[in-house]
Amino acid sequence: MMEFRPLQGPFGVEVIGVDLSVPLLPEQIRRLMVAFHENALMVIRGQSLTPEQFARYGACFGKPHNPQSYGSGRHLDGHPTLDLLTNDPALRSLLSANNADHWHADLAFEDEVGSATSVYCLEMMAQGGSTTVADMRLAYDGLDEAMKKRLENLVGIHRHRNAWDKRKVELEMRDATPEKLEAMRGRQEKHARHPVAWPQPWTGRKALYGVVGTLQAIEGMPDDEAADLLAELQEHATRPEYCMSVDYEIGTVASWDGRATLHRAPPLPAGVDSATRRTMWRAAVTGPSPYLAS
Ligand SMILES: [Fe+2]
Repeated sequence: MMEFRPLQGPFGVEVIGVDLSVPLLPEQIRRLMVAFHENALMVIRGQSLTPEQFARYGACFGKPHNPQSYGSGRHLDGHPTLDLLTNDPALRSLLSANNADHWHADLAFEDEVGSATSVYCLEMMAQGGSTTVADMRLAYDGLDEAMKKRLENLVGIHRHRNAWDKRKVELEMRDATPEKLEAMRGRQEKHARHPVAWPQPWTGRKALYGVVGTLQAIEGMPDDEAADLLAELQEHATRPEYCMSVDYEIGTVASWDGRATLHRAPPLPAGVDSATRRTMWRAAVTGPSPYLAS
């Protein structure tokens, strides 16, 4: 019997009594999706999943996204919609393993943003390794009325971090091939426009969107004015009272709402043994859950 319990902290829900290795009934999935959108963060512990089973669960949230399409993912062999997240130095450089060590919303630099990201933990280091998730609905609620009014109708310009982070650009350019330089130039020009605050598709609750990470400018606003506004929003959005730490054990599945939260991965050491290695599969999706379509 599926049971929903609030997580200890400002938001999020844990689901008890569900086994994701077996196909769920559409009504069960619908209940999970409703709980997910109401709580913006959902944790299910004690799972034992094959890649197929985890990919099937990830696809309940929306349209599976191929991590190879934006170049930073390393997908799991034979499973193009699953990203392999690991700090195992035999599989990934430390720079690449720590690619998400900054606040962001997944795929905010695309027109079709990440609507949900799920991870499944296979190996867990002895200390650290948690993901921090910040609820942008709570952050919006915490703004004063004058700021809420000011944000109405504002549109943010988002760019991929590797297009503006000087350090990342330099590292990438150092040994880039002509093809890679061309791709980098394309990325410099590419941007996406999204409202600074928007209502959530399922609940209608308003949330700040992607205000830390990819948001680089405000449409029609002078740069210095936008920089001041963004600095204020960024300080506000990641206050501890809006944040949850997602702690993983082997078998933990966690999902967060990409349109209603920001997240950051912790800095990881090189995972040279079982005490230092963290390995997860990740399934990101775009668009609405097919189980919530009316
Ligand atoms: Fe991410």
